[in-house]
Amino acid sequence: MTSEQTGIEEMTLEEIKAAARERVKPEVWDWVNGGTETESTLQRNRLALEKIMLRLRVIHGLETANTGVKILGQTVATPVMVAPFANMRAVHPEAEVAIAKGAEKAGAMMFLGPLAGHSIEQIVGAVNTPVVWNGEPWKDREKLSALIQQADKAGCRAVGLCVDDFVGIKIKDHLRPLPRNCSLSEDALRELRKATSLPFFLKGIMTVEDALTAAGAGVDAIVVSNHGGRVLDCCQASIEVLPQIVRAVGGRMEVLVDGGFRRGADVLKALALGAKGVLVGRPICWGLGAAGAEGVARVLQLMTDELMRAMMLTNVPDLRRTPGDAIVSA
Ligand SMILES: Cc1cc2nc3c(=O)[nH]c(=O)nc-3n(C[C@H](O)[C@H](O)[C@H](O)COP(=O)(O)O)c2cc1C
Repeated sequence: MTSEQTGIEEMTLEEIKAAARERVKPEVWDWVNGGTETESTLQRNRLALEKIMLRLRVIHGLETANTGVKILGQTVATPVMVAPFANMRAVHPEAEVAIAKGAEKAGAMMFLGPLAGHSIEQIVGAVNTPVVWNGEPWKDREKLSALIQQADKAGCRAVGLCVDDFVGIKIKDHLRPLPRNCSLSEDALRELRKATSLPFFLKGIMTVEDALTAAGAGVDAIVVSNHGGRVLDCCQASIEVLPQIVRAVGGRMEVLVDGGFRRGADVLKALALGAKGVLVGRPICWGLGAAGAEGVARVLQLMTDELMRAMMLTNVPDLRRTPGDAIVSA
């Protein structure tokens, strides 16, 4: 389906969400959008972002703002990135290939999830945009090392592991166990890290303790994330713990973040708190469900355009070092 047919280029995020809801099966919709148990973590990700305000500064003579940034060694046009997902075939038949093409159109980096409907080679080969591979911490270390090496060979620009979903994904009271996964020890991490010379990241870090353990094991980057509120209820928001983690790692690792980011203004808040980039989850699924690659591109472009406008209005000319005084907390 082309963007002309859907009118996707004119749609707001809310309209894209509504269009996706009409096209995606109800049980898939609930699985994409839900959170664990009482959904308090899911809600808190948004509530905590809403408590941070931007400081409107306009007497500076800026004529433009540059959203380009270097993340995991890759230069990209935007710090807004595609989060990794499992089972995207349920949302759209072209699944990860459509997501990758949408990311490419928007000049964004893509995190590729573990259960892709296509092979790593097919997805990486379909686009020029940087794709990074986000695996699961399998108990079978040999298979996991082999997969890391496969992602490396396939042309992924970085590899990493999601470390927070080993007791399964729980949407409301429905648990989907992930029996192949396990919690990784620091020693296991150190071993796995040796499987590749690419930049290596962990996703699902919410405490200073885990961040420092990751740094000690030779990890290059972390994604501060509570899995979009899909694993543990009653958890802090990722944006709440971001500043203390950034302070603790002190430039030793690149820090990325996700959870509840829906607007460019939200993205600017995370950058002002020291994140290098922001992963976007459910809105990408909405874009995919509404209009495949074009929908994904539209979501990323909307958020990037909003970010650029917010930068102009807060006196942030570029993202080499986003000033902390662009924001204030309630
Ligand atoms: C449908 C769906 C599937 C997901 N699958 C994975 C996965 O396989 N691996 C992973 O690390 N994170 C997975 N996530 C979590 C996202 O990568 C991301 O952390 C989260 O969605 C960010 O929150 P947001 O949706 O509020 O933006 C999934 C999220 C959704 C919505």
